[in-house]
Amino acid sequence: MWNYSEKVLDLFYHPLNQGEIKDEQESGMAVVRGEVGSIACGDALRLHLKIDVTGDRIIDAKFQTFGCTSAIASSSALTEMVKGLELDRALGITNRDIANYLGGLPEQKMHCSVMGQEALEKAIYSYRGLTPAHEEEEEGALLCTCFAVTANRVKRVVQENRLTSAEEVMRYVKAGGGCGTCLSAIDEVIESVLQPQPLTTVQKIGKIETSLDGIRPYLQADGGDVELFDVEGDRVSVRLKGACGSCASSLATLKDVIEERLRREVLPSLVVEAV
Ligand code: FES
Repeated sequence: MWNYSEKVLDLFYHPLNQGEIKDEQESGMAVVRGEVGSIACGDALRLHLKIDVTGDRIIDAKFQTFGCTSAIASSSALTEMVKGLELDRALGITNRDIANYLGGLPEQKMHCSVMGQEALEKAIYSYRGLTPAHEEEEEGALLCTCFAVTANRVKRVVQENRLTSAEEVMRYVKAGGGCGTCLSAIDEVIESVLQPQPLTTVQKIGKIETSLDGIRPYLQADGGDVELFDVEGDRVSVRLKGACGSCASSLATLKDVIEERLRREVLPSLVVEAV
């Protein structure tokens, strides 16, 4: 028996936004879908989004899923999380954000949150006529033939979730959970990701800027903002602006939001300071 949070159980027994959004002609609105997984493999999710074309904003979201308790709860959580969001901000949602919204998921069920993030990305990219990053990854060589998972996809999930073992990778994307012949290849990918890659200063600044761009919409929604001031070795100076500069919890924003994200996405040794 899995140890599910109250939120997971609540959304499983009383799922919100289950169903579909029909393709009705409505002025200024577009309906798009993102579909991932396959019923043959055990889990599948079809996410429906209604988008306000003028505001580039999601105004409604529904889901249809074939899967377990956590698949239903993750899909339901995702629809609640994206409603009302601008598309760029919705694209910033990670699978870990979905799991956090649910008060956590058992490690063995994290692949349900990955499925939600991929369906969201697929729907928005399809609306924009682009190819989702995870689909480009699917074009690489297969690492796990049992579950049709590429090395690039394993690399991405290892990076985004800081995974350190093949067992964890299995819980996120199922790779390695069949015949097991790919387990050593998964270990090699993990090792290559964990090897510190020295960054040039220009690369470091570029990655920091990209990471800050991902945080900015959340701060701006609360009337704040952040800008990069300087980078010296592992010390990153930022300027908190607007509401963030005067907010009582600016230190928490600096450390728990900005520093945590930069450490995760750029370098684990970074220290963020406000100027
Ligand atoms: S090839 Fe990955 S489990 Fe079989």
